[in-house]
Amino acid sequence: MKPLIGVNIGKLKLKNPVMVASGTFGYASEFADFLDLKKLGAIVTKTITLRPRQGNPMPRTCETPAGMLNSIGLENPGLEVFIKDKLPYLNKLGVPLIISIASESDPKEFVLLAKELDKIKAISAIELNISCPNIHGRTARLVAQDPMATYKVVNSVRKVTGKVLITKLSPNVTDITQIALAAAKAGTDAVALVNTLTGMSIDHLTRRSKIAAGIAGLSGPAIRPVAVRCCWEVFRKIKIPIIGMGGIIDTSSALEFFLAGATCVSVGTANFVNPAISAEIIDGIRNYLRENKLTGIKEVIGSLPL
Ligand SMILES: Cc1cc2nc3c(=O)[nH]c(=O)nc-3n(C[C@H](O)[C@H](O)[C@H](O)COP(=O)(O)O)c2cc1C
Repeated sequence: MKPLIGVNIGKLKLKNPVMVASGTFGYASEFADFLDLKKLGAIVTKTITLRPRQGNPMPRTCETPAGMLNSIGLENPGLEVFIKDKLPYLNKLGVPLIISIASESDPKEFVLLAKELDKIKAISAIELNISCPNIHGRTARLVAQDPMATYKVVNSVRKVTGKVLITKLSPNVTDITQIALAAAKAGTDAVALVNTLTGMSIDHLTRRSKIAAGIAGLSGPAIRPVAVRCCWEVFRKIKIPIIGMGGIIDTSSALEFFLAGATCVSVGTANFVNPAISAEIIDGIRNYLRENKLTGIKEVIGSLPL
């Protein structure tokens, strides 16, 4: 029998539980030569803001042991150009589209963005990026570092859209469950865990940070144990679905997240190493279920013995 790998995120039905993480897959067309995009469970687009952004000064990425640092600073063409130039291509793919949005300074921008996106039928869900470490300067707090601020943003967006709402959280907190609970109380349909972990890498010869902005976001296998732990902690506290990510590079690393309680997984940095990896992981999950005589992915989700 064919194992069942379909999952639901609120009212959104996905044919499989593998998506691509915001900011690591562009607007999908960049990857069309490497894999059948139609195979993906969903596509999460690079975060957009109301106005276009040039992003942070170069250099803004560097390799680290088992990962990378980035401080792209949310470079994006802005809402209007996204709708005009990027959305028509994405719409044709027939894959659920999750549009990631962020505010640049005032959290009210989340509401303005959501109101506009709510009018577009082709969009399945909105992901609130309240956890980008690279836009508000070195000392500013993220919305996702404060339960009250998280509640307010999610609640205000919830009031203006009936689309499935996903809230993306930061691992740069003492207790991620408090933030997840606030987001759930405010009406998010799911939480995405996790955005990058803040980090720094210094060139001892130039005595400068390898990233122009100084601090950056760490991603890749280096953060996987932190991300899995976040999923596991949140899974035990809230009932809504979790989209797990952080260092997924193959089927076994994806399965860690399902076992910890994630309903779906997102593949990020690994897309830069093997642009077809997300499709390979979908096949890998099917094989794992078959080999272990499991009826479907739901038997795996949250099944870690405590
Ligand atoms: C180059 C780069 C750009 C990213 N841009 C975004 C972004 O625009 N919005 C967002 O929510 N996350 C962004 N992320 C974070 C990823 O979506 C993901 O949460 C994180 O990298 C952890 O997953 P990974 O280890 O599989 O990459 C970015 C990550 C990288 C590496």
